[in-house]
Amino acid sequence: MDETPRVVIDCDPGHDDAMAIILAARHAEVLGLTTVAGNIGLDLTTRNALVTTQIMGLDVPVRRGAARPLVAPPRDAAHVHGQSGLDGPTLPHLERSEVGTDAVDWLATAARDNPGMWLIPIGPLTNVALAIRRHPDLLGHLRGVSIMGGGTADKPGNLTSMAEFNIAVDPEAAAVLFEQEVPIRMCGLNVTHQFGATDAEAGDFRALGTATGVFVADLLEHYIGAYERTFGIRRAAIHDPCAVLAVTHPELFEFERRRVHIELTGTHTRGMTVVDRRQPGPGDGPVEVAMAIDADRAMELLVDACAAPAL
Ligand code: RIB
Ligand code: CA
Repeated sequence: MDETPRVVIDCDPGHDDAMAIILAARHAEVLGLTTVAGNIGLDLTTRNALVTTQIMGLDVPVRRGAARPLVAPPRDAAHVHGQSGLDGPTLPHLERSEVGTDAVDWLATAARDNPGMWLIPIGPLTNVALAIRRHPDLLGHLRGVSIMGGGTADKPGNLTSMAEFNIAVDPEAAAVLFEQEVPIRMCGLNVTHQFGATDAEAGDFRALGTATGVFVADLLEHYIGAYERTFGIRRAAIHDPCAVLAVTHPELFEFERRRVHIELTGTHTRGMTVVDRRQPGPGDGPVEVAMAIDADRAMELLVDACAAPAL
């Protein structure tokens, strides 16, 4: 039995970020959360990370990081996640507070103190890039970096036709990470859209009757509505939990080892993850690109994580 992975999640909650945190709490040792501006501004992503941990009784430190991308102008996804970044549930009065504003430096401290840990970024990669630049030894302490971001040529983009939100919001930051020789697992849109939720799954979470189950049901009802308004179908892709499962349950995935470049200058392709799938074949690059997921098992794990009583 492999030991429980130690993880730090860098996030921008965000409906699917919240679900990723819930999964991680059940299947990993969560050393802490760091927050970044993305789905909504930094104040709210930080508040949302805190309230998510409060609802599930997860007592882990939350630190805030970057309030804007390295170079690109700020942009958010309020059209999907709402003005609060976590629209849908009635959120409780916040009783928890962040432990600091030093997310970037703390990422390095956590890595040095926990060699072999996984870093799981599920928002724009601004904090990660700043930490790599400020602390060149950081990546050497990690087992790897498992991101939700990007996509392959058959499913490249959502913010633009060719670029996925987490990469497109801060392409320069993504390029800093992808130019490193560090083990990366990449769960892009090509695989995260295989893992979806409909009203039926929202009903399954509500039927659990637990605080976390009702929370996720309320999140899904809003999130599915946003997908219906945006894409015309009541089925929402559960993006961020895939990056957690790629660490806790890699057997659920099919990966290809590829080299991945981040497009920075293309008029219509800025923020694209250019996944080189030319031959020669496997072993040709440091990135394990997820190509398939056992979505039924992934949903079972998310439901089970919500069935458990609050921590
Ligand atoms: O493109 C999906 C990603 O953008 C997810 O991480 C979601 O939370 C948003 O941040
Ligand atoms: Ca996210």
